[in-house]
Amino acid sequence: MHKARICGTGSCLPDRVLSNTDLEQMVDTSDEWITSRTGIRTRRIAGAGEQNYQLAAKAAARALESANISAMELDMVLVATMSPHMIMPSCACFVQAEIGAENAFAFDLNAACSGFLYGLDLAEKYIVAKPAMKILVIGSETLSTRVNWEDRNTCILFGDGAGACVLESSPKRGILDSSLHADGKLWNLLYMDSPASRNPELADPERKGCFIQMSGRDVFKYAVRAMENTVTNLLDRNGLSVDDVSLFIPHQANVRILGKLMERLGMEDEKVFINVNKYGNTSAASIPIALDEACREGRINDGDLILFCSFGGGFTWGSMLLHW
Ligand code: ACO
Repeated sequence: MHKARICGTGSCLPDRVLSNTDLEQMVDTSDEWITSRTGIRTRRIAGAGEQNYQLAAKAAARALESANISAMELDMVLVATMSPHMIMPSCACFVQAEIGAENAFAFDLNAACSGFLYGLDLAEKYIVAKPAMKILVIGSETLSTRVNWEDRNTCILFGDGAGACVLESSPKRGILDSSLHADGKLWNLLYMDSPASRNPELADPERKGCFIQMSGRDVFKYAVRAMENTVTNLLDRNGLSVDDVSLFIPHQANVRILGKLMERLGMEDEKVFINVNKYGNTSAASIPIALDEACREGRINDGDLILFCSFGGGFTWGSMLLHW
Protein backbone atom coordinates (compact mmCIF):
# COMPACT_ATOMS: atom_id res chain seq x y z
CA MET A 1 0.00 0.00 0.00
CA HIS A 2 1.20 3.52 -0.77
CA LYS A 3 2.06 5.83 2.08
CA ALA A 4 1.69 9.61 2.47
CA ARG A 5 5.12 11.19 2.59
CA ILE A 6 6.19 14.73 3.53
CA CYS A 7 8.23 15.85 0.51
CA GLY A 8 8.76 19.52 1.40
CA THR A 9 8.61 21.86 4.40
CA GLY A 10 8.56 25.62 4.94
CA SER A 11 7.92 28.15 7.66
CA CYS A 12 7.45 31.87 8.19
CA LEU A 13 7.89 33.88 11.38
CA PRO A 14 6.89 37.53 11.79
CA ASP A 15 9.76 40.03 11.91
CA ARG A 16 8.99 41.59 15.31
CA VAL A 17 10.68 39.92 18.29
CA LEU A 18 9.07 40.42 21.71
CA SER A 19 11.47 39.56 24.53
CA ASN A 20 10.77 38.81 28.18
CA THR A 21 12.36 42.15 29.01
CA ASP A 22 9.84 43.84 26.71
CA LEU A 23 7.06 42.01 28.57
CA GLU A 24 8.37 43.37 31.89
CA GLN A 25 7.27 46.81 30.61
CA MET A 26 3.77 45.54 29.82
CA VAL A 27 2.71 43.35 32.78
CA ASP A 28 3.92 42.54 36.29
CA THR A 29 6.40 39.82 35.37
CA SER A 30 10.13 39.19 35.05
CA ASP A 31 12.50 37.52 32.63
CA GLU A 32 13.53 35.22 35.49
CA TRP A 33 9.93 34.08 36.18
CA ILE A 34 9.10 33.46 32.53
CA THR A 35 12.37 31.67 31.76
CA SER A 36 12.28 29.44 34.83
CA ARG A 37 8.57 28.49 34.45
CA THR A 38 8.41 28.15 30.66
CA GLY A 39 11.86 28.28 29.05
CA ILE A 40 10.50 30.95 26.68
CA ARG A 41 12.84 33.88 26.04
CA THR A 42 11.38 35.52 22.94
CA ARG A 43 8.33 35.18 20.71
CA ARG A 44 7.39 36.71 17.34
CA ILE A 45 4.47 39.10 16.97
CA ALA A 46 2.70 39.70 13.65
CA GLY A 47 2.48 43.23 12.28
CA ALA A 48 1.40 44.92 9.06
CA GLY A 49 1.41 42.53 6.09
CA GLU A 50 1.61 39.56 8.45
CA GLN A 51 -2.00 38.45 8.72
CA ASN A 52 -2.49 34.76 9.49
CA TYR A 53 -3.04 33.85 5.82
CA GLN A 54 -0.03 35.92 4.70
CA LEU A 55 2.31 34.06 7.07
CA ALA A 56 0.67 30.79 5.97
CA ALA A 57 1.12 31.62 2.27
CA LYS A 58 4.82 32.43 2.72
CA ALA A 59 5.39 29.17 4.63
CA ALA A 60 3.47 27.36 1.88
CA ALA A 61 5.56 28.89 -0.91
CA ARG A 62 8.74 27.76 0.88
CA ALA A 63 7.36 24.24 1.35
CA LEU A 64 6.42 24.03 -2.35
CA GLU A 65 9.89 25.22 -3.33
CA SER A 66 11.59 22.60 -1.16
CA ALA A 67 9.24 19.90 -2.57
CA ASN A 68 9.92 21.15 -6.11
CA ILE A 69 6.16 21.14 -6.74
CA SER A 70 4.19 24.01 -8.29
CA ALA A 71 1.08 25.43 -6.63
CA MET A 72 -0.95 24.40 -9.71
CA GLU A 73 -0.16 20.74 -8.94
CA LEU A 74 -1.86 20.90 -5.53
CA ASP A 75 -5.22 19.15 -5.07
CA MET A 76 -5.97 20.28 -1.53
CA VAL A 77 -4.97 23.09 0.83
CA LEU A 78 -5.69 22.59 4.51
CA VAL A 79 -4.93 25.19 7.18
CA ALA A 80 -5.02 24.20 10.84
CA THR A 81 -5.70 27.32 12.86
CA MET A 82 -7.71 28.74 15.73
CA SER A 83 -6.88 32.36 14.92
CA PRO A 84 -8.06 32.99 11.33
CA HIS A 85 -8.33 36.66 10.42
CA MET A 86 -11.90 35.93 9.25
CA ILE A 87 -14.36 33.18 10.12
CA MET A 88 -15.51 33.01 6.52
CA PRO A 89 -13.91 32.61 4.01
CA SER A 90 -11.43 30.21 5.52
CA CYS A 91 -7.76 31.03 5.90
CA ALA A 92 -7.09 28.17 3.45
CA CYS A 93 -9.08 29.93 0.71
CA PHE A 94 -6.98 33.07 1.14
CA VAL A 95 -3.81 30.95 0.97
CA GLN A 96 -5.10 29.13 -2.12
CA ALA A 97 -5.61 32.48 -3.86
CA GLU A 98 -2.33 33.96 -2.61
CA ILE A 99 -0.14 31.09 -3.88
CA GLY A 100 -2.22 30.40 -7.02
CA ALA A 101 -3.26 26.83 -6.19
CA GLU A 102 -6.11 27.07 -8.68
CA ASN A 103 -6.80 23.34 -8.87
CA ALA A 104 -7.02 22.77 -5.13
CA PHE A 105 -10.00 22.70 -2.80
CA ALA A 106 -9.35 24.48 0.47
CA PHE A 107 -10.61 24.48 4.03
CA ASP A 108 -9.62 25.18 7.65
CA LEU A 109 -9.55 22.79 10.55
CA ASN A 110 -9.61 23.74 14.24
CA ALA A 111 -8.22 21.31 16.78
CA ALA A 112 -6.30 24.01 18.70
CA CYS A 113 -2.64 23.08 19.25
CA SER A 114 -3.30 19.60 17.84
CA GLY A 115 -4.64 21.01 14.56
CA PHE A 116 -1.57 20.26 12.48
CA LEU A 117 -1.50 16.60 13.55
CA TYR A 118 -5.23 16.27 12.89
CA GLY A 119 -4.63 17.84 9.46
CA LEU A 120 -1.74 15.54 8.59
CA ASP A 121 -3.81 12.54 9.62
CA LEU A 122 -6.66 13.65 7.36
CA ALA A 123 -4.34 14.36 4.43
CA GLU A 124 -2.82 10.91 4.83
CA LYS A 125 -6.26 9.31 4.47
CA TYR A 126 -6.87 11.24 1.22
CA ILE A 127 -3.52 10.21 -0.23
CA VAL A 128 -3.96 6.56 0.67
CA ALA A 129 -7.39 6.63 -1.02
CA LYS A 130 -6.22 8.69 -4.02
CA PRO A 131 -2.43 8.31 -4.48
CA ALA A 132 -2.26 10.92 -7.25
CA MET A 133 -3.17 13.72 -4.83
CA LYS A 134 -0.70 16.36 -3.69
CA ILE A 135 -1.71 18.11 -0.49
CA LEU A 136 -0.52 21.19 1.38
CA VAL A 137 -1.01 21.07 5.16
CA ILE A 138 -0.32 24.28 7.07
CA GLY A 139 -0.40 25.19 10.75
CA SER A 140 -0.69 28.95 11.13
CA GLU A 141 -1.56 31.21 14.05
CA THR A 142 -1.65 34.87 15.02
CA LEU A 143 -2.45 34.28 18.68
CA SER A 144 -1.13 37.73 19.59
CA THR A 145 -4.54 38.95 18.39
CA ARG A 146 -6.32 36.58 20.82
CA VAL A 147 -4.20 37.13 23.91
CA ASN A 148 -5.13 39.55 26.67
CA TRP A 149 -1.97 41.64 26.94
CA GLU A 150 -2.98 42.62 30.49
CA ASP A 151 -3.12 38.98 31.67
CA ARG A 152 0.34 37.86 32.76
CA ASN A 153 -0.89 34.28 33.18
CA THR A 154 -1.33 33.84 29.44
CA CYS A 155 0.30 36.65 27.44
CA ILE A 156 3.84 35.46 28.17
CA LEU A 157 3.21 32.05 26.63
CA PHE A 158 2.13 32.56 23.04
CA GLY A 159 3.61 33.68 19.74
CA ASP A 160 2.75 33.98 16.03
CA GLY A 161 4.01 32.01 13.05
CA ALA A 162 3.27 29.48 10.33
CA GLY A 163 4.68 26.15 9.18
CA ALA A 164 3.74 24.11 6.12
CA CYS A 165 4.42 20.78 4.48
CA VAL A 166 3.61 19.16 1.15
CA LEU A 167 2.44 15.54 1.06
CA GLU A 168 2.49 13.12 -1.83
CA SER A 169 2.27 9.34 -2.15
CA SER A 170 5.33 7.13 -1.86
CA PRO A 171 5.66 3.37 -2.37
CA LYS A 172 7.83 2.95 0.73
CA ARG A 173 8.23 5.85 3.12
CA GLY A 174 5.81 8.13 4.92
CA ILE A 175 3.31 8.24 7.75
CA LEU A 176 3.27 4.88 9.54
CA ASP A 177 0.58 5.34 12.14
CA SER A 178 -1.20 8.00 14.17
CA SER A 179 -3.42 8.24 17.19
CA LEU A 180 -5.79 11.17 17.79
CA HIS A 181 -7.87 11.91 20.87
CA ALA A 182 -10.25 14.47 22.38
CA ASP A 183 -12.07 15.08 25.65
CA GLY A 184 -14.62 17.86 25.27
CA LYS A 185 -15.72 17.56 28.91
CA LEU A 186 -12.57 19.47 29.85
CA TRP A 187 -13.20 22.37 27.44
CA ASN A 188 -13.31 25.02 30.17
CA LEU A 189 -9.70 24.46 31.28
CA LEU A 190 -8.46 26.11 28.08
CA TYR A 191 -10.70 28.09 25.78
CA MET A 192 -11.13 31.18 23.68
CA ASP A 193 -14.52 32.79 23.34
CA SER A 194 -15.66 34.28 20.08
CA PRO A 195 -17.62 37.53 20.02
CA ALA A 196 -19.33 36.29 16.86
CA SER A 197 -20.70 33.22 18.58
CA ARG A 198 -21.92 34.90 21.74
CA ASN A 199 -25.23 33.38 22.77
CA PRO A 200 -27.00 35.46 25.44
CA GLU A 201 -28.14 32.27 27.15
CA LEU A 202 -24.51 31.35 27.70
CA ALA A 203 -23.46 34.80 28.90
CA ASP A 204 -21.23 34.43 31.93
CA PRO A 205 -19.95 37.51 33.79
CA GLU A 206 -16.77 35.59 34.64
CA ARG A 207 -15.83 35.39 30.98
CA LYS A 208 -13.49 38.19 30.04
CA GLY A 209 -14.02 38.57 26.31
CA CYS A 210 -12.65 36.68 23.36
CA PHE A 211 -9.23 36.05 24.85
CA ILE A 212 -7.48 32.81 25.68
CA GLN A 213 -8.55 31.63 29.15
CA MET A 214 -6.54 28.93 30.86
CA SER A 215 -6.19 26.94 34.06
CA GLY A 216 -2.44 26.63 33.72
CA ARG A 217 -1.78 23.96 36.35
CA ASP A 218 -4.59 21.71 35.09
CA VAL A 219 -3.42 22.07 31.51
CA PHE A 220 0.09 21.16 32.58
CA LYS A 221 -1.07 18.03 34.40
CA TYR A 222 -3.37 16.75 31.65
CA ALA A 223 -0.91 17.60 28.88
CA VAL A 224 1.95 15.56 30.33
CA ARG A 225 -0.25 12.54 31.11
CA ALA A 226 -2.10 12.56 27.78
CA MET A 227 1.04 12.97 25.66
CA GLU A 228 2.83 10.23 27.56
CA ASN A 229 -0.11 7.83 27.05
CA THR A 230 -0.58 8.51 23.35
CA VAL A 231 3.14 8.15 22.58
CA THR A 232 3.51 4.97 24.64
CA ASN A 233 0.45 3.36 23.03
CA LEU A 234 1.48 4.35 19.52
CA LEU A 235 5.00 2.96 19.93
CA ASP A 236 3.70 -0.23 21.61
CA ARG A 237 1.20 -1.07 18.92
CA ASN A 238 3.91 -0.67 16.27
CA GLY A 239 6.36 -2.88 18.17
CA LEU A 240 8.69 0.09 18.72
CA SER A 241 10.31 1.81 21.69
CA VAL A 242 11.69 5.30 22.33
CA ASP A 243 15.13 3.90 21.43
CA ASP A 244 13.93 3.39 17.85
CA VAL A 245 12.93 7.06 17.47
CA SER A 246 15.49 9.17 15.58
CA LEU A 247 13.91 12.56 16.34
CA PHE A 248 10.97 13.54 18.55
CA ILE A 249 9.22 16.78 17.51
CA PRO A 250 6.62 17.60 20.16
CA HIS A 251 4.21 20.53 20.24
CA GLN A 252 6.24 23.41 21.67
CA ALA A 253 4.19 24.49 24.71
CA ASN A 254 6.92 25.08 27.26
CA VAL A 255 10.14 23.40 28.36
CA ARG A 256 8.78 22.29 31.72
CA ILE A 257 5.97 20.29 30.11
CA LEU A 258 8.46 18.84 27.63
CA GLY A 259 10.99 18.06 30.37
CA LYS A 260 8.40 16.16 32.38
CA LEU A 261 7.23 14.32 29.27
CA MET A 262 10.76 13.30 28.26
CA GLU A 263 11.47 12.15 31.82
CA ARG A 264 8.36 9.92 31.85
CA LEU A 265 9.09 8.54 28.38
CA GLY A 266 12.77 7.99 29.16
CA MET A 267 13.63 10.04 26.06
CA GLU A 268 17.18 11.43 25.77
CA ASP A 269 17.57 15.21 25.33
CA GLU A 270 19.46 14.81 22.02
CA LYS A 271 16.44 13.12 20.43
CA VAL A 272 14.07 16.00 21.12
CA PHE A 273 13.78 19.10 18.95
CA ILE A 274 13.02 22.22 20.99
CA ASN A 275 12.64 25.80 19.75
CA VAL A 276 9.94 27.09 22.14
CA ASN A 277 12.64 29.30 23.71
CA LYS A 278 12.67 31.40 20.50
CA TYR A 279 9.02 31.39 19.39
CA GLY A 280 6.86 30.63 22.44
CA ASN A 281 3.76 28.51 21.96
CA THR A 282 2.56 28.98 18.37
CA SER A 283 -0.25 26.41 18.78
CA ALA A 284 -1.05 24.60 15.50
CA ALA A 285 2.05 26.11 13.89
CA SER A 286 4.54 24.81 16.43
CA ILE A 287 5.19 21.31 15.03
CA PRO A 288 5.49 22.34 11.35
CA ILE A 289 7.79 25.27 12.25
CA ALA A 290 9.96 22.90 14.31
CA LEU A 291 9.89 20.28 11.55
CA ASP A 292 11.03 22.83 8.97
CA GLU A 293 13.87 24.04 11.22
CA ALA A 294 14.93 20.45 11.94
CA CYS A 295 15.03 19.69 8.19
CA ARG A 296 16.99 22.83 7.36
CA GLU A 297 19.45 22.18 10.20
CA GLY A 298 20.13 18.70 8.81
CA ARG A 299 18.64 16.97 11.86
CA ILE A 300 16.54 14.58 9.71
CA ASN A 301 17.95 11.97 7.32
CA ASP A 302 16.34 9.50 4.93
CA GLY A 303 15.21 6.40 6.79
CA ASP A 304 14.80 8.19 10.16
CA LEU A 305 11.87 7.38 12.42
CA ILE A 306 10.20 10.68 13.37
CA LEU A 307 7.71 11.06 16.20
CA PHE A 308 5.23 13.94 16.56
CA CYS A 309 3.05 14.58 19.60
CA SER A 310 0.66 17.37 20.57
CA PHE A 311 -1.82 18.56 23.17
CA GLY A 312 -4.20 21.52 23.15
CA GLY A 313 -7.58 23.07 23.84
CA GLY A 314 -10.63 20.87 23.55
CA PHE A 315 -8.84 19.02 25.01
CA THR A 316 -7.33 17.49 21.89
CA TRP A 317 -4.14 15.47 21.65
CA GLY A 318 -2.39 12.92 19.52
CA SER A 319 0.81 11.40 18.19
CA MET A 320 2.15 10.27 14.84
CA LEU A 321 5.03 8.11 13.59
CA LEU A 322 6.71 8.75 10.24
CA HIS A 323 9.33 6.85 8.31
CA TRP A 324 11.24 9.73 6.67
N1 ACO B 1 4.96 36.55 35.95
C1 ACO B 1 5.08 36.53 37.28
N2 ACO B 1 4.24 35.84 38.09
C2 ACO B 1 3.26 35.17 37.50
C3 ACO B 1 3.07 35.15 36.11
C4 ACO B 1 3.97 35.91 35.31
N3 ACO B 1 3.89 35.95 33.98
N4 ACO B 1 2.01 34.38 35.80
C5 ACO B 1 1.52 33.91 36.97
N5 ACO B 1 2.28 34.39 37.99
C6 ACO B 1 2.12 34.16 39.42
C7 ACO B 1 0.71 33.73 39.78
O1 ACO B 1 -0.13 34.85 39.90
C8 ACO B 1 0.95 33.03 41.10
O2 ACO B 1 1.08 34.00 42.11
P1 ACO B 1 0.40 33.74 43.55
O3 ACO B 1 1.08 32.51 44.08
O4 ACO B 1 0.73 35.00 44.28
O5 ACO B 1 -1.05 33.53 43.27
C9 ACO B 1 2.31 32.38 40.92
O6 ACO B 1 2.94 33.07 39.81
C10 ACO B 1 2.23 30.92 40.60
O7 ACO B 1 1.27 30.73 39.59
P2 ACO B 1 0.96 29.34 39.01
O8 ACO B 1 -0.08 29.47 37.96
O9 ACO B 1 0.71 28.39 40.11
O10 ACO B 1 2.37 28.99 38.35
P3 ACO B 1 2.84 27.65 37.71
O11 ACO B 1 4.06 27.20 38.37
O12 ACO B 1 1.72 26.66 37.55
O13 ACO B 1 3.24 28.13 36.23
C11 ACO B 1 2.36 28.09 34.01
C12 ACO B 1 2.27 28.71 35.38
C13 ACO B 1 3.72 28.44 33.39
C14 ACO B 1 1.25 28.68 33.15
C15 ACO B 1 2.20 26.54 34.12
O14 ACO B 1 1.05 26.22 34.86
C16 ACO B 1 2.13 25.88 32.78
O15 ACO B 1 3.11 25.76 32.10
N6 ACO B 1 0.94 25.41 32.37
C17 ACO B 1 0.72 24.88 31.06
C18 ACO B 1 0.08 25.98 30.26
C19 ACO B 1 0.32 25.90 28.78
O16 ACO B 1 1.36 25.49 28.29
N7 ACO B 1 -0.68 26.35 28.04
C20 ACO B 1 -0.57 26.48 26.62
C21 ACO B 1 -1.74 25.94 25.92
S1 ACO B 1 -1.91 24.19 26.08
C22 ACO B 1 -0.61 23.54 25.34
O17 ACO B 1 -0.09 24.06 24.41
C23 ACO B 1 -0.09 22.26 25.84
